[in-house]
Amino acid sequence: MKRLSERFLPRFILSTALFICFSLTTWASIHEGGDVVKGKQLFNANCASCHKITDEVLAAPGLKGIDQRWKGKDELLIKWIQNPKAAAATGDPYVKSLVEKYVATYGWMANQAVSAEEIGHILTYVKEGDGGSAPVAEENTCLTYEEMQAAAGQGKENDGLIWIIIIGVILAIIGVSAANISRSLKNAMNERDGKPIDESAGYWESAKAWMWRHKVFVSLTGLFIFCYLVVGLYGALMDIGVYEAYKPEQPIWFSHASHVCKYEIDCQYCHSAAAESKHAGIPSANVCMNCHKGIKEGPVSGKKEIAKIYEAIGFDPATGTYIENYEQKPIEWNKVHNLPDHVYFNHSQHVTVAGLDCKQCHGPVQTYSVGRQATVEEINAQDDVPGLIKLTKPTLTMGWCIECHNKAEVDLASSAYYEEMHNRFTSNELGQRFLRSYLEENLKKGDGAPVDSLKTILSVKQLGGWECGKCHY
Ligand code: HEC
Ligand code: HEC
Ligand code: HEC
Ligand code: HEC
Ligand code: HEC
Ligand code: HEC
Repeated sequence: MKRLSERFLPRFILSTALFICFSLTTWASIHEGGDVVKGKQLFNANCASCHKITDEVLAAPGLKGIDQRWKGKDELLIKWIQNPKAAAATGDPYVKSLVEKYVATYGWMANQAVSAEEIGHILTYVKEGDGGSAPVAEENTCLTYEEMQAAAGQGKENDGLIWIIIIGVILAIIGVSAANISRSLKNAMNERDGKPIDESAGYWESAKAWMWRHKVFVSLTGLFIFCYLVVGLYGALMDIGVYEAYKPEQPIWFSHASHVCKYEIDCQYCHSAAAESKHAGIPSANVCMNCHKGIKEGPVSGKKEIAKIYEAIGFDPATGTYIENYEQKPIEWNKVHNLPDHVYFNHSQHVTVAGLDCKQCHGPVQTYSVGRQATVEEINAQDDVPGLIKLTKPTLTMGWCIECHNKAEVDLASSAYYEEMHNRFTSNELGQRFLRSYLEENLKKGDGAPVDSLKTILSVKQLGGWECGKCHY
């Protein structure tokens, strides 16, 4: 008897425990019980570039209702998110249908580096969503498609006006010359035929005579025009290098207003180099194709503009495949921001080390339907940039850089970059002595206090941000 219970009891306990665990996992599905706030962050960082949490299709199906579509298949769903091809290999009929429906158009979803626990947070967020209020408020602040269309046409209208003026002037010159020529011809003919010549003076002669009669008026007008030109020239010289709100024409009508505002795509999804290198860079056509393999038509420009991406990269939208042996033509974006060659500017120094928001220097990019340089007024008017430093000098001028370096402060103590520099520097005694005398001299705090207790919040200027050599080659 004893032997039997000894053998039976552990098994009984084990199977009961297994049963309870199993029931618990089916009760608490991974679509519930996670942390919505964490889920939202994870979703925005990993999934939002392709998925919406509604049923709207972005570059992949909307995730609304996945708890129903994947009912009872938590393990498989986790597997799908971490490695879609492995999930497809299980032969599950739903996954098969998913692959048939989407892969031809959107390509395979990439493996996602998220843990099972993180997926739990994401799926809870997908299920419970934003509470419905936030997206509506944001929607209203985005430009409408009509506004984008109007703004996109603006530059061209101005160009048109300039051309009308130029053509008008040319026509006037041609008209006057033609009149002169015809009068000379007529006189020549009259002379040949022995008829009296038209003695009336030419336009220039009569103009001269008229001016002589109205000497005072003419001199005053002349003086006025002269002064006007001098002042204008002076202004133009002072503004050399200032092209605020400059917006060149682009090979493809690309709108930050729809990509950034309506679809909330992160700046660094496209300008991925900004955090670690000198240049922020313009995305290659491959980046566009992550989404545009599927999105073939836009609400403003129809198929016309998106077709130019396909033309560049060699993609056939009809069959949804890349054309083999296609000679790719890079998209030649025109530079909007262009500092002179003698200036050194580094994005990672400002984005990663200084932690500045892109909008601090580039303004309300989410409203631009044409890529352009921001004006200081636009930058200062933003209320969604934490710790915005308000400046007065025109953007991209030397005065602008200098003004910010005077106002912006750096907390050396909480900057990993400076801690690393400080540690390397003060690991030897010579470095320590030099640093102390340098700081004492520069901060006029010569009380012999140890280095560590000196002020750690300095302006960029105090760190050397006004030295010519820092910005000039
Ligand atoms: C680069 C684009 C991309 C990213 C990023 C992405 N997905 Fe997907 N996802 C897809 C595509 C495309 C499909 C459709 C199936 C296919 O074509 O592979 C899909 C399908 C899915 C499905 C199945 C949808 C359904 O209706 O059953 C789920 C669930 C899913 N993704 C979850 C996620 C989660 C969670 C993340 C973030 C951790 C994520 N995806 C990130 C592109 C992406
Ligand atoms: C993360 C996804 C994503 C990426 C990456 C992306 N787009 Fe788009 N794009 C969209 C979506 C979504 C729309 C549809 C816009 C709408 O409905 O308002 C769109 C629309 C467009 C349109 C049509 C605009 C209109 O309203 O007619 C053009 C042109 C375009 N994109 C160009 C580009 C170019 C060029 C790139 C690469 C530099 C790019 N896109 C990268 C998602 C993306
Ligand atoms: C301190 C101001 C500042 C901040 C912050 C900043 N930029 Fe810039 N950005 C500039 C200047 C100045 C230029 C012109 C650089 C040149 O012509 O060499 C520029 C140029 C660019 C360009 C043109 C391409 C290139 O690399 O020159 C892009 C794209 C860009 N910035 C995107 C970004 C993004 C995205 C962020 C945020 C992650 C950002 N910038 C943050 C000042 C800034
Ligand atoms: C979907 C991809 C995409 C996203 C997201 C995106 N950009 Fe851009 N950006 C582009 C493309 C393409 C251009 C070149 C066309 C143009 O100038 O409009 C560009 C141009 C720029 C330029 C001007 C570059 C130059 O020539 O000097 C700046 C500055 C810039 N982006 C900043 C930003 C900031 C800041 C954000 C986030 C708020 C952002 N971008 C988000 C694709 C993107
Ligand atoms: C909105 C404020 C702001 C603007 C505008 C700005 N900077 Fe800066 N810059 C900073 C800050 C903050 C730092 C300090 C980063 C750090 O080292 O912690 C910095 C650091 C630098 C450095 C490194 C200085 C050093 O001591 O090593 C250089 C070089 C530089 N900026 C160049 C420029 C140039 C060139 C421009 C104009 C085209 C510019 N910056 C515009 C805020 C700005
Ligand atoms: C914080 C960065 C920064 C510092 C420090 C700086 N400059 Fe500049 N400088 C610039 C920028 C940016 C331009 C380009 C402005 C433009 O194109 O309008 C410029 C332009 C110039 C020009 C050419 C003006 C022109 O019209 O093209 C001269 C000369 C010049 N700087 C001299 C100096 C001298 C001398 C110092 C040291 C006292 C100095 N700079 C320090 C950023 C800086």
